[in-house]
Amino acid sequence: MTKFDYSDKPWWLFSYEATMEALENARMRISDIEAIVLSTVSSADGVAEHQTHKISLISDLFKTNVPIIETPSVCAGGGVAFWTAQNLNFNNILVVAAEKLVDNKSEVAVHWILSASERVIEQTEGMLFPVQNALVWQQYMTKYGGTMDDLSLIAFKNHQNAALNPKAYYYKRPVSLEDIKNSPIVASPFRLMDCSLSVNGGAAAILSKEKSDIEIIGSGFATDYLLTFGREIVTHFKATRIAAEQAFKEAGIKPEDIDVAEVHDAFTSVELFSYEDLGFAPVGKGADLIRSGKVNLDGELPVNPSGGLKAKGHPISVTGLAQVYEIVNQLRGKCGERQVKGNPKIGLCHNIGGAGGSVTVHILKKI
Ligand code: COA
Repeated sequence: MTKFDYSDKPWWLFSYEATMEALENARMRISDIEAIVLSTVSSADGVAEHQTHKISLISDLFKTNVPIIETPSVCAGGGVAFWTAQNLNFNNILVVAAEKLVDNKSEVAVHWILSASERVIEQTEGMLFPVQNALVWQQYMTKYGGTMDDLSLIAFKNHQNAALNPKAYYYKRPVSLEDIKNSPIVASPFRLMDCSLSVNGGAAAILSKEKSDIEIIGSGFATDYLLTFGREIVTHFKATRIAAEQAFKEAGIKPEDIDVAEVHDAFTSVELFSYEDLGFAPVGKGADLIRSGKVNLDGELPVNPSGGLKAKGHPISVTGLAQVYEIVNQLRGKCGERQVKGNPKIGLCHNIGGAGGSVTVHILKKI
């Protein structure tokens, strides 16, 4: 995984850097790779360079002629690429995602991100992602009584963790709880510090049929309607519930068996109700996990030890693979100052596309 920041490099250079680290880590050469799954949205109009034939560019970059498949699924692109690779029959397969998201002004990136939500009915009403998620959170507060203080604690936890992660945007830049609570309003009741941070970067993973120290024991992938407010349940993501059920069933374990998790905190509220969707807390009780400190780095179930999308940063397609990177390193005990205590054995990655329109859940185990 590259450092997440505003580096002014083309997206494919991030993919190159991340792949080189993955190959070195796996003690492989590019000639050992039999196929590649790629996820990026960077060449969309208005976002970085426009290049439609990305798989050929990757062939050129790595001097390889193997099959290359693209799995663009907006913010779930990395998770969907990882899921796809597992369902292909190759011995060694490279999964890579890269984005140069922050290239133009912030409003250009925000406008582009918008095209991952419903454009005809919801967007014309001004529903940018922060707005849409703020409305969902208002519904949640009315129904279950969560508070803005709960969300501030989630942002604070993720910023504290990111301050210990050299690859996070907010590395060594701790943010106080007071600053979080006083950050500017973006879409009421959300403040700036309730939103994820757009950054550039890349991440890669190699899946091999050879024995490794880490095994994927559970995998789930589900989709849902594009129109957020056309869904039966607004306050939770059905696709997370289905993907989690599939992953836990395949792994033959329960949510309480998870030692560490990377949860898709596109907004602080999404982390909170994902605790419930993933089965870590009963419906309406997600806030208990942050109030009690259970999900803190030194808690019983650390969530987002990397700093999450909030403070490590969220380069769209890359996020799903960056979660895998964090969990693998946590299970290997290689996370330095942010290492979760007690030798974690089982970790979970939860990656959402759009406002819950596509979701993957993966469970990894240290052998
Ligand atoms: N958290 C913390 N800091 C943030 C931030 C965030 N979410 N967003 C921006 N910043 C910081 C920038 O690093 C920059 O700091 P600097 O001046 O020290 O360099 C400063 O705030 C201004 O950045 P800018 O990009 O101009 O902010 P903005 O006001 O245009 O955008 C948001 C802020 C919240 C609207 C934007 O970050 C956003 O839309 N986030 C959500 C992204 C999203 O929807 N992703 C998909 C989710 S599914």
